[in-house]
Amino acid sequence: MPSLEWNDDLSVGIGLIDKQHKMLIERTNAIAEAVEMKRGLEKILQTLGFMIDYTDFHFSAEEKVMIDHDYPKLAEHQKLHEDFKARLNQMVEDFEEDGATPALSQEITTYLTNWLVNHIKGIDTELGKILREKGYEE
Ligand code: FEO
Repeated sequence: MPSLEWNDDLSVGIGLIDKQHKMLIERTNAIAEAVEMKRGLEKILQTLGFMIDYTDFHFSAEEKVMIDHDYPKLAEHQKLHEDFKARLNQMVEDFEEDGATPALSQEITTYLTNWLVNHIKGIDTELGKILREKGYEE
């Protein structure tokens, strides 16, 4: 699978959030590379761990902005974040139990890439629009 590249279609119009999304894309690509180059279970788990850490950081930052700006879809958006975090943690368990099987390796790259693009272009873009309407431009 080709690596995911940042382009303006992925911008939510809020610099701080875009910057963090670029970092998530980098981390997703690092996982994809570890999988594609068959770098082994330890490396995949390490890159997945970096992704989980940054995801926690980004979701917390994004949710703080939502709370500060009375974002009306906070609960719905938070639920999507929580589900994604749970899925990442499940993937760690699956890799630890089964090893870097081709099926798991394929699944992780496809899932992460699709989830990120859909989330950013969907509810994050909607969030960006609402924040801009409220005058937030960081
Ligand atoms: Fe940028 Fe809702 O995660």
